[in-house]
Order: sequence, then C-alpha cells, then structure tokens
Amino acid sequence: MSKHSDGIAPHGGQLINRIASEQQRSEFLEKADSLPRVQLDAWAASDLDLIAIGGFSPLTGFMEQGDYESVVDNMRLANGLPWSIPVTLSVNEDVAEPLKEGDLVRLDDQNGRFVGVLELTQKYRYDKKREAMNVYRTDEEKHPGVKVVYNQGDVNLAGPVWLLQRYPHPLFPKYQIDPAQSRTLFKERGWKTVVGFQTRNPIHRAHEYIIKCALEIVDGLFLHPLVGATKSDDIPADVRMRCYEIMMDNYFPQNQVILAINPAAMRYAGPREAIFHAIVRKNYGCTHFIVGRDHAGVGDYYGTYDAQHIFEEFEPDELGIIPLKFEHAFYCEVTETMATAKTSPSTPDQRIHLSGTKVRELLRKGELPPPQFSRPLVAAELAKAMKVED
Ligand code: ADX
Repeated sequence: MSKHSDGIAPHGGQLINRIASEQQRSEFLEKADSLPRVQLDAWAASDLDLIAIGGFSPLTGFMEQGDYESVVDNMRLANGLPWSIPVTLSVNEDVAEPLKEGDLVRLDDQNGRFVGVLELTQKYRYDKKREAMNVYRTDEEKHPGVKVVYNQGDVNLAGPVWLLQRYPHPLFPKYQIDPAQSRTLFKERGWKTVVGFQTRNPIHRAHEYIIKCALEIVDGLFLHPLVGATKSDDIPADVRMRCYEIMMDNYFPQNQVILAINPAAMRYAGPREAIFHAIVRKNYGCTHFIVGRDHAGVGDYYGTYDAQHIFEEFEPDELGIIPLKFEHAFYCEVTETMATAKTSPSTPDQRIHLSGTKVRELLRKGELPPPQFSRPLVAAELAKAMKVED
C-alpha cells in the first residue's frame, strides 16, 4: 500500500484542495455580479464540497466527456485510474446555451448563495440511458439514483472548480472532519490501519457487529455516516446522527472510534457505489473499508454480495484500500449472540433480522424493534423521532 506524509496515499497520489485562497476569494467576489450563474441542487452542491476538500481526489472539477464516458463504460478515468461513479454538473439546454467554453461560471447553492466557481472547459450532451444501465444496472425510473439522472439536465458542464469558502456544516459542525483533518487525527492517534464505515441507516446491531469484528483487526474506526441527499423515505440525517452519538456514548470505546460526516449524496448504485465509497474513504485516510450485505443497494436491484464481488474486477494495488467483506449478520437465538452463517449453527428460523421497512412499520405502530435487533436506547430515539414526524 503506497504511503503519503499523512498515512495512506490519496487516490491518484495527491490530496486535492480546491478551496479558494483568500486572494482568489476576493477576486471571485469582485467579479460576482458580472459572471454567468448556474444554480446547483443539493446533490451537485455536495459534489462541489467533496471535490474541494479532496474527498474525490484526484478530481479537481466536474468531469469532462473523456473521463465521463470512460467512467460509465469502463469504471476508470481516461488515464486508467479506477473510478466508478460519474461526477457531473448537468443543466438544461437553456442554461448551457449562453455559456462559452473558457468562461468562469458562478455557482450558487439552492438558496442563491454564491458558493463556488467553475472554469468551463467543456459542455457536452450525454446518454442518460447508458449511464443508468452501466452505473445503476437498470434503466427503471423507479430506481432512486436513475430517477435523479433522468430528471437532471441534458448537458454536462465540465471543468475545474473552486469552493469559495468552507463553512461549518449547519447541523453537524462538530462532526465536519475533512480529509486533511482526518488524516492528521489518525496520525495523532497513532493509527496505522483505519477501517471506514459507510452508512445511511440508523445503526443496528448487525452494523455494530461487523464494525466491531473489523475493529478487532485494525487500529481505529472511522464511523462515517452519509448526510448528503438521500431518498425521501430514508431516516433523516439528524435522527441518524443522534443514534450514532448514542452508540459513541454507550457502546463504542471512545478512543478507538472517530465519528464524522460524509457530505456526499447517496446514489443507491450498489456495487459501483461500493467502489466509490471505498475510494472516498481512502482519501479520508482509511486503509480498510467495510462492505457488508447489499452495500448501497435499494429494492432488489443488486445481488446480496454483488458489491463485494465487484472488488475482484480491480487489482488490489490500483484501488489501494482493502475491502473487509461481511456476510449477512443477524442475532442467533441458539448461541444468543450476533453472528453470520459462517459462525452460527442456527437454522434460518432461529435468526433475528429485520428490514428497514419492517422497522419503520413497527415504529409507526408505536412498537420498538427488539433488543436483538437494535440497542434499546437507539430504538427509543427512533421511536421519539417517529412520534415528532406524525
Ligand atoms: S448503505 O446503503 O450505506 O450500504 P446501511 O447503512 O444499511 O446502507 O449499511 C451500511 C453498511 O453495513 C454496508 O456496508 C452494508 O452492506 C452493511 N450492512 C447493513 N446491514 C447488514 C447486515 N445485516 N449484515 C451485514 N452487513 C450489513
């Protein structure tokens, strides 16, 4: 595994920083009113943040056509480096039309706040169906990631970007730990091996089990819930964060775990997103990454372990982060402990595991998921959030 001054090398070798310097910022602000404008949705705004802070290293901006097509078709950037998810800024024809290649474009967030600048190097049309089929393995509009692609504009604007300023996260400032900081933190703690954990759901005992199994073989855990855009029926990020805090306070050894937010939007691209999630965590300084059952999946679009098998399509060196693969975990009534089919003598009817849908159903009826599924304090927090929602 290649080294870097702060631990494992970022993807492509260098941690990208596209946050404007003070001088660049004042130059951009002077031009603010004269630049053409493009408004970003929450998804693109979070991509801008991730590019700027180096989470998407080696990307320095939104993808040009060469990279885009190579990623969609071959899971690699045009230079051959593995990359599995397009990072594009898609706008409608009428927004793209007046913009000229070479222009500096002002990027505003959903509230009209000036947040970044794009140096437009290319605009190009793209094939949405092809993107859907290759990246999401389906062209069905009801897939939440495909739906986003189908609803976005027909033209991609490409080129390097600058983030005007890195503001603290409005909801979770304490947990905004960007890649340069996480790398420093890992170093300060003396962690040589760190496992990253992606999650978008309230933490349950199967999560806790695979996390702790992983933690047995590495120095530290980077608990990295995704707090960017998710589909509307996912549990909101603030509720999930309170659940992770409960875990930090009660069930995890504080000095072995760092809780931080991943600002990315959720694509639900299953296997392709597992590769992407791993690369992003490598940029945060993780050496290992947990991939469990149906990672980043939705509905029944992907096989239970497709997100694990896809790692075999790359040489370990070119990914540079080690996937830690876990089978479907459950509570085993025979041994009265969490387990998987690898470690439990149980038959299927002696195993307790609940789907997210089932848990929501219980909570809606005012019932708590059982302690074999969810830590009681976490279950109570979820129940409280459900009540407020109703
Ligand atoms: S995900 O969309 O972010 O993958 P979730 O937050 O549920 O959803 O999962 C986080 C991680 O835990 C993923 O790696 C997923 O594969 C894994 N995981 C979730 N539930 C289980 C389970 N019962 N057994 C094994 N792995 C699981």
